[in-house]
Amino acid sequence: MLRWWLLALATLVLVAIAGFAALAWQPSLPPAALPVTAFDPSLVARGRDLALIGNCNTCHTQEGGKAYAGGKPIPTPFGTIHATNVTPDPETGIGQWSLTAFVRSMREGVDREGNHLYPAFPYDHYARVTDEDLAALYAFLMTRRAVRHEAPPPDLPFPLNQRPLLAGWKLLFLKAGSYRPDPARSVEWNRGAYLAEGLGHCGACHTPRNRLGAEIASEHYNGGEAENWWGPPLNASSPASVPWTEASLFNYLRDWDPKHGGAVGPMAPVSHNLSQVGESEVRAMATYLTALMGPPSGERLGRTEAIAARPDAAPDPRLAAGERIYAGACATCHASGGQVPYTVNSLAYHTTLFGPDPRNVIQAVLRGIRPPEGAAGAIMPGYAEMLTDGQVADLLDYLRARFSDAPPWTDLERKVREVREDIPPTSGSLGGAQVESTPDLRRGG
Ligand code: HEC
Ligand code: HEC
Ligand code: HEC
Repeated sequence: MLRWWLLALATLVLVAIAGFAALAWQPSLPPAALPVTAFDPSLVARGRDLALIGNCNTCHTQEGGKAYAGGKPIPTPFGTIHATNVTPDPETGIGQWSLTAFVRSMREGVDREGNHLYPAFPYDHYARVTDEDLAALYAFLMTRRAVRHEAPPPDLPFPLNQRPLLAGWKLLFLKAGSYRPDPARSVEWNRGAYLAEGLGHCGACHTPRNRLGAEIASEHYNGGEAENWWGPPLNASSPASVPWTEASLFNYLRDWDPKHGGAVGPMAPVSHNLSQVGESEVRAMATYLTALMGPPSGERLGRTEAIAARPDAAPDPRLAAGERIYAGACATCHASGGQVPYTVNSLAYHTTLFGPDPRNVIQAVLRGIRPPEGAAGAIMPGYAEMLTDGQVADLLDYLRARFSDAPPWTDLERKVREVREDIPPTSGSLGGAQVESTPDLRRGG
């Protein structure tokens, strides 16, 4: 009897393995006829804007490397995955990929040879993109300069380095089908939703993920993770001190807003890319997000101005150490009432001082803020080499009490230490000389 059961069990396991193998198997697609070059210039131009909205450059261009040639390490909680070369080089890039192979990779996360791709490549969002837009993206990539450059393989432990397992992940979390417009909403709202949910993959950093690294659909935009930064909620639970409006979202996403400041950390390349696409695309996303956030409650209006107007003197003697650091290191810029270029009226205007997670403030203080290469923008020195973990913790205790009405952050010293661990030792130096010598420190000239 026992033998019979064991046999039945073994058969079941074999059937399951065979079933999974069939599911995981994807055909290799034939190489495209070379060279793939004949594209309508207007299609290429359209593809350029879509690539900017999709942030393809942010992941596929390595620091100091050639455009789209890959190699950039993308950190995940499971290990590091390197973005690949997506230039048309036939050996190391996608030069041999037909449009069909490209579309399959964007929708199903499968490369031309039939290997499953890791969802660090946000194809769970790109699956929403229409055929026409994918054709434009393909035309754009295939007309880039081919660069010979092999991206390093993923650095993942066994069994996560077994690509066929990703078929199981997709079965659970990858939804097929491009974006379906909601007829009850305006054309602009639908355009914004299509861009934000699809190419813009805003949820990748603004929606929490489960243990298998998939976004939790029921917690859409409740706040997420981005390279050890906190991605603030973008729905009705937004803790923004100044409630967002469509106009301020438009300003923030493209450049800088007088009530909220500008994007920093992993959000900075997103907004730098959006500053180069058609205004109507960004306005549509602002319309969509404003609708998601809903109208602010009456008590939130005017709250920030009241907090900003409070005196700087520490409300509690235990906060005096933090106040001294603020007065000595930060007040020259942040207590100027927005007179220093790119600063807002008061730190009370920044969402990050009201959020549950202190990491963005720690990141900004330790690393400082610099504009993206070749752009004008906010400059703040980094204090990694000036302040100890304990001093940064004291400073944050004070900032939280002075510039927000939220409860104190806890366990700050440990959190400062953890953020500091990822910062390369040289990038945190106080760039005083750099700040002084920057000619266009004044906004607009
Ligand atoms: C958040 C980072 C990220 C963004 C943004 C991103 N990619 Fe990727 N992409 C990756 C990673 C990582 C891989 C490799 C995955 C793997 O090795 O399994 C990849 C793989 C690919 C591949 C497969 C190439 C191959 O040789 O197997 C294509 C095609 C691709 N990306 C196109 C794009 C396009 C087009 C965009 C913009 C619309 C884009 N990617 C945006 C991270 C990203
Ligand atoms: C790579 C990760 C990443 C992606 C992708 C991303 N964001 Fe962000 N976003 C962040 C982080 C981190 C912050 C916090 C920046 C800070 O501390 O000031 C942020 C901040 C914001 C804010 C300001 C929120 C507030 O209350 O201060 C808005 C609005 C926003 N993002 C919108 C978007 C939209 C729209 C998209 C998609 C087009 C997007 N983000 C894509 C990481 C990301
Ligand atoms: C040379 C001027 C300068 C100094 C000094 C300075 N900052 Fe800043 N800080 C800025 C600018 C400019 C911004 C960007 C404002 C924007 O556009 O969002 C900024 C942004 C910030 C933010 C918002 C980060 C986010 O997540 O969006 C915080 C918090 C902050 N500073 C704290 C500090 C603290 C604390 C100190 C002192 C240790 C300090 N700053 C010193 C200029 C300065």
